[in-house]
Amino acid sequence: MIDLKGRTAIVFGVANKRSIAWGIAQKLNEAGARLLITYQNERLKLEAEDMIKDLPGAEAYQCDVSHDAEIDQLFAIVKEKHSKLDILVHSVAFAPADDMKNDFLDTSREGFRIAHDVSVYSLIAVSRAAAPLMTDGGSIITMTYYGSTKVIPRYNVMGVAKAALEATVRYLAFELGRRNIRVNAISAGPIKTLAARGIRDLGEMLKSHEERAPLQRNVQQSEVGTTAVFLASDLASGITGEVTYVDCGYNIMGF
Ligand SMILES: NC(=O)c1ccc[n+]([C@@H]2O[C@H](COP(=O)([O-])OP(=O)(O)OC[C@H]3O[C@@H](n4cnc5c(N)ncnc54)[C@H](O)[C@@H]3O)[C@@H](O)[C@H]2O)c1
Repeated sequence: MIDLKGRTAIVFGVANKRSIAWGIAQKLNEAGARLLITYQNERLKLEAEDMIKDLPGAEAYQCDVSHDAEIDQLFAIVKEKHSKLDILVHSVAFAPADDMKNDFLDTSREGFRIAHDVSVYSLIAVSRAAAPLMTDGGSIITMTYYGSTKVIPRYNVMGVAKAALEATVRYLAFELGRRNIRVNAISAGPIKTLAARGIRDLGEMLKSHEERAPLQRNVQQSEVGTTAVFLASDLASGITGEVTYVDCGYNIMGF
């Protein structure tokens, strides 16, 4: 059992109980970490505050990662209350519905900008704010998907954003390595969440994964959570800049 007692973790991207961020938060909590959960806006506040009742000592904060002022405000509070941070989980992505529905060729300039701002730039912004608080080193984890590397029909601009996100992980890992802050991505197989419902062929994707993955099933939210606990822990002290697949092996298959 991995012990994260005495560590403080901030988790971005909890919308509801199906969120991958929630699966990760639960596993970090089971390992003993103190949890700071963030939710995007006022609309998600009640649910987030209700959910964290299951995590003893957890705190919930609002933060829209597309606004620098909200990021600054959040980390000023974290600094004042906790002074030190050990783990950051970035489980946030967004692309406008039309850009996930239409042909990739018709991706709008604004849709491309928004997808990259919310899903990629935000990792740089929150890492920059968190790094000064990671005084004993730290672990930053983001969420990616195989559509970064191979064409997944209808994943569209989000595939391009995930490719940029994985490159961002490597550049951040390089710069933050000298401060003993590790940066990694988890590439999860498809899971039925709010964000995933924006992908038109999700049902077909889930079915195909089940049929083709070596483990012959889809991955569970809790399995992403336990991998995040590993990457957050000292057991992963030599791992940085990597993409770890948690997809029941789907990505190794050629046919
Ligand atoms: N579900 C899957 O199949 C799957 C597979 C691989 C990777 N991922 C990735 O996992 C991450 C989490 O997605 P999920 O599937 O848990 O869905 P989700 O809808 O539960 O989580 C997405 C989160 O992003 C947040 N968000 C969007 N815009 C934001 C903003 N401006 N500021 C702050 N938060 C914002 C939403 O509030 C939500 O909490 C995403 O990066 C997604 O691409 C998902």
